[in-house]
Amino acid sequence: MKKIEVKIPGKEYPIFLGEGIINRLVQFIKLYKLNQNIFIVVDRNILRSHAARVEDIIKRLNCKKFMHVYDASEANKSFFGAEKIYLDLINLGFTRDTLVIAIGGGITGDITGFVASTFMRGVKFIQVPTTLLSAVDSSVGGKTGFNFEETKNIVGTFYQPEFVLVDTAFLKTLPEDELICGTGEILKYAFLIDEEMFDSLHRDITKLITLNAGFVSKIIEKCVRFKGDVVAKDEKESGLRKILNLGHTFAHAFEVEQNYLLKHGQAVTVGIVCALELSLELGLINQNKYERFKSLPLLLKDKIEIKHCDINLVYETMKRDKKGSEDKIKFVLPADLGRLVVDVTAPEEKVKLAVQKGISNFIKQI
Ligand SMILES: NC(=O)c1ccc[n+]([C@@H]2O[C@H](COP(=O)([O-])OP(=O)(O)OC[C@H]3O[C@@H](n4cnc5c(N)ncnc54)[C@H](O)[C@@H]3O)[C@@H](O)[C@H]2O)c1
Repeated sequence: MKKIEVKIPGKEYPIFLGEGIINRLVQFIKLYKLNQNIFIVVDRNILRSHAARVEDIIKRLNCKKFMHVYDASEANKSFFGAEKIYLDLINLGFTRDTLVIAIGGGITGDITGFVASTFMRGVKFIQVPTTLLSAVDSSVGGKTGFNFEETKNIVGTFYQPEFVLVDTAFLKTLPEDELICGTGEILKYAFLIDEEMFDSLHRDITKLITLNAGFVSKIIEKCVRFKGDVVAKDEKESGLRKILNLGHTFAHAFEVEQNYLLKHGQAVTVGIVCALELSLELGLINQNKYERFKSLPLLLKDKIEIKHCDINLVYETMKRDKKGSEDKIKFVLPADLGRLVVDVTAPEEKVKLAVQKGISNFIKQI
């Protein structure tokens, strides 16, 4: 088992990473003196595929405990999804001495983290990510929240967990399209980290989709170490942390425009291609770099499908994204591997052209 420390000033916490380590959850709860009343929010699909493992945890918890079964979808990552969790907490008499545990993917982790950060002005919280995407990204860094009206993640808080436990055994029941989603989010790190990460993913991307245990663990460790370091330097996203949003301004708008039929990790892949198109348009990268960089996300081209896309709606949705200000959309764009430019603004026609060129790779002709 690996232990990776996230050193946010005033809130340090470990990420435990290993196969089969869920059976150490209760031990870690005791070790970190978190043994209070326990409220678990578990993804319904986890309960279906890993019932024995979850039940074993519940059995071994020697305290007041409750399991809220959550249906993970972007539609249910909402005010109403959160309300149902608050109602269980309140009706069952949970109080300030509650430890909330999220067991599931990024959707479950985001909404549960939000509830934990606001219930009784904040109770302790543990993340147990069960998708590749949540293992490499969303479980670390403390962003919580839900979607409201037509905007992704528009309501949220920064709230760090007590610890994160990544048990890679959960990943074995993920359908292929969820492994593609996780891979999409991992591609972002190829541009954020360095040339070696880029080349390694280019060479071995299929090892992620086929869940090669050694490679998957190595990549999860690299991503969470990198993200942990960035968040430690800029927890509230006033500067450096913005680089983690590479491809995301486009991605969130695609998710909304496609009515969430395009999943987050797929949308991030398309968003990275659009970001590269815009980088080329604005002269941040030359044609050679553009061709080379684009070849990585396009390895997933046949696994992602957009049927039709309203570019004007994508543009209007991007304008509403919380990262913009004064009606200006702000982008994070690659200038090189390991070198990102943040807060880039661009003329509307160039943005729309980048969207059009980017999605053309994923539009399937019938
Ligand atoms: N907080 C952050 O910093 C951050 C970062 C990136 C993404 N996100 C958010 O994360 C969300 C996407 O997360 P996700 O891709 O994990 O999606 P998800 O939580 O919806 O999980 C994907 C699907 O897999 C199922 N599932 C989960 N674990 C499983 C397992 N082990 N076996 C079988 N099925 C399983 C779920 O029920 C769901 O149907 C988005 O809402 C995105 O906005 C947040």
